[in-house]
Amino acid sequence: MPTTPTIDLTGATPGWPAHLLQQWRDCLLRTCQEDLPADGAPHIGDPELRAVLADRVGVAASDLVITSGVRFAVRGLCADADRVVVERPTFSGVPLSLTQLGLPWSYADWAEMLAGDRTVEGAVCWVTSPARNPDGRGFGTADLARWAAVAGSARRLVQNVTYRDFADGPAIPGACLVASFHKVAGPGARLGWAAGPGMAELLKPELRAASPARIWQRTWLRFVLSGGWDELTTGLRADVERARSAFRAGLGPALEWLAPDLACGAGPALLLRAAASDARDRLAAAGVLVGAGADFAAGNRMVRVWLAGLTEDAAFTAAQRVGRVLAHR
Ligand SMILES: Cc1ncc(COP(=O)(O)O)c(C=O)c1O
Repeated sequence: MPTTPTIDLTGATPGWPAHLLQQWRDCLLRTCQEDLPADGAPHIGDPELRAVLADRVGVAASDLVITSGVRFAVRGLCADADRVVVERPTFSGVPLSLTQLGLPWSYADWAEMLAGDRTVEGAVCWVTSPARNPDGRGFGTADLARWAAVAGSARRLVQNVTYRDFADGPAIPGACLVASFHKVAGPGARLGWAAGPGMAELLKPELRAASPARIWQRTWLRFVLSGGWDELTTGLRADVERARSAFRAGLGPALEWLAPDLACGAGPALLLRAAASDARDRLAAAGVLVGAGADFAAGNRMVRVWLAGLTEDAAFTAAQRVGRVLAHR
């Protein structure tokens, strides 16, 4: 039986440092005092927020629109193709949205997409890098030319860069980019962006119906301009890197059960091979809650670990418990 409380590695949202929470509240208050136009924000987003984000991402402000998150953009980015090819494993919200929208889609792994055959021709391809959820993988500059070729033969290549604050990694030339603030700001922040040629037109129905309120957009703009976002994400990234190292150290000999090609990943998510089908139950009994790899199309024998919001000690202890359970395979 665990001697300390159960450690939850299923996907907790990390808390904010108190002073940054206060800074954000001040931004909200000041925005409330601002003389906002009565007719709201343009549907493509607050012009200043678009300009600031575009500058940071390195795209033209005219190509970037403010969204309510990644799933918001799925229909607009995918509905004009005959089929959608989604990376495997992946964040389940995207395939779920495609199914709900009734759009034809299938999974392919990165190697299959990069093989450049009929898998990608004319399709919308959907990938996540850097620090993909659930396995932390990302591609580097050496892979860019091959991904750019995929962008060239696909109808559209969508690169989800939601984890760009947790790890470095290049954008694919010719890809559309999407991102969500939710993994930093918390679920329900209802803010993100999408960038690429013609984006305002592609996402027009969603933007007209459900773009974030201007007061909300300008609060976040203030927070970014006052340095709050950078301080928050720099701290979060450092915390996650520490938790990741501590977790690897705590795994001990079970480190080999990190899928070998995933061992070099980054960011909050990690996949482990767990031979037993009841591994999650056994881990729960040992005091660690983990996600099911199957929920991310990673296969039944994988478990998914989420390290954001964990102290180094908790990450180390959790990994020791995981290691002990995985040792009895
Ligand atoms: C890769 C990825 N993209 C996006 C999101 C969030 O999506 P949304 O903005 O639709 O809430 C998540 C959440 O887990 C994610 O892992």
